[in-house]
Amino acid sequence: MAYHIAIIGTGYIGLVAGVCLADSGNQVTCVDIDEAKITMLREGRSPIYDPGLTDLLVKNKRHLHFTTSYNEALKDADVVFIAVGTPLAKNGEADLQYVEAAAKSIGAHMLKDLVVVNRSTVPVGTGHKVEKMIQKVTSYKVSVISCPEFLREGCAINDFMHPDRVVIGADDGHEYAVSMLKDIYKGVSKNDAKFVVTDLRSAEMIKYASNSFLACQISYINDLVRLCEAVDVDVTEVARGMKLDKRIGEYAFLNAGLGYGGSCFPKDVQALTALGRNAGRPLPLLETVEKVNDEMVELAVAKVQKLLKITEIALSEARIAVLGLSFKPNTDDTRASQSVKLIEALIKEGCANLRVVDPIVHFSKEVERAHGKIKEINGGGDILDRILSAAKDADILILATEWNDFRNLDFEKLRDVMRHPCFLDTRNVYSKKEVEQLGFTVENMGRK
Ligand code: UDX
Repeated sequence: MAYHIAIIGTGYIGLVAGVCLADSGNQVTCVDIDEAKITMLREGRSPIYDPGLTDLLVKNKRHLHFTTSYNEALKDADVVFIAVGTPLAKNGEADLQYVEAAAKSIGAHMLKDLVVVNRSTVPVGTGHKVEKMIQKVTSYKVSVISCPEFLREGCAINDFMHPDRVVIGADDGHEYAVSMLKDIYKGVSKNDAKFVVTDLRSAEMIKYASNSFLACQISYINDLVRLCEAVDVDVTEVARGMKLDKRIGEYAFLNAGLGYGGSCFPKDVQALTALGRNAGRPLPLLETVEKVNDEMVELAVAKVQKLLKITEIALSEARIAVLGLSFKPNTDDTRASQSVKLIEALIKEGCANLRVVDPIVHFSKEVERAHGKIKEINGGGDILDRILSAAKDADILILATEWNDFRNLDFEKLRDVMRHPCFLDTRNVYSKKEVEQLGFTVENMGRK
């Protein structure tokens, strides 16, 4: 069955839900307070990059609308998805101002009984608050249920269309809402969606617990990096042997490197530890997860210093080329990017000549405004030429984000243009031995 669906928020969660639900035959209206974003979307242009997103945006324009008006969005809606941001507040907790604003606006503009599905990552108990906030300002009946989003940036469309599971949190009396949401999902991923229907608070916790566990895996393997280096062990071999255990799994997040970034893991780990502290049940393991992640940037800076010692060049005189600015490949998102944190740390340590290449991120938007100290920014042109021009006369080449564009570097050409052939592979893409045989001095994160 096709539904009239309103979506509040046009970020990664809201916009991806909008294009996918529209592509599954629903009538979708997305509302956002950002007029510029809405104008772009109406013109078929996406403010964010994710593979396939713009294609679906353009393909579904007849039944996918964008507006800044709640009236327009809600007038025919059967169901409303809340997909607004929950950034970190100064006290480390999730900032719910946008969720609360969306709830008030829904209550003020709804014209009939409504199902509200919360997709934003929110602290346990938020769904109940949202339902009370809406019910207070309307005489129509509102049913709020939780359905956390689990998509990964860079493969968002695929993850939305083929979720591992659909978690639905609903308390007694919300059965109609659950059946509607299940019906909507059956339209999206046909019948291969696995539903986990539980109470609302458990659903909210599942989201935080899942993201924090994934971050835990990353910090676990990263915590072994220095030990592996000290006892001559290859951490990538350790991970390979671990993943074959079905209880750990081939998809486990055990790729050692510069650590995790993005708009989710950093804030969700902090929000869950804050929830623990506030509930009088601190989570020391998670506090260590964040600490280990921060240390990976420090370790990368130490490795830069180690390489510079060999070239006898001070960091303030060094020319450093950095490959990758986004927090992971296949996205333009630099939020909490470890690559950006590494650049910031190098600038703080005195580096004044950095050149950055990223396949997608628009430098002026992200780098000049944020740093201003990047001497040369490589815009436009073929990525291979850009890599070579960034590496020209450089003393160190740093691979910070493992884009496919950086997985077949021509080290012989790079060696010929660099002032010193030093390579820091922060994502363990290359075998150290192979690159050393091409005349480079190599550092990486625990890989031999
Ligand atoms: C994550 C969760 O995977 C997703 O389920 C949730 O909905 C949102 O948060 P995302 O942040 O988009 O998705 O990216 P993800 O692929 O999970 O990577 C997160 C970070 O961890 C990236 O910086 C990545 O480079 C890093 N990472 C990932 C590692 O350092 N090692 C790994 O093994 C995997």
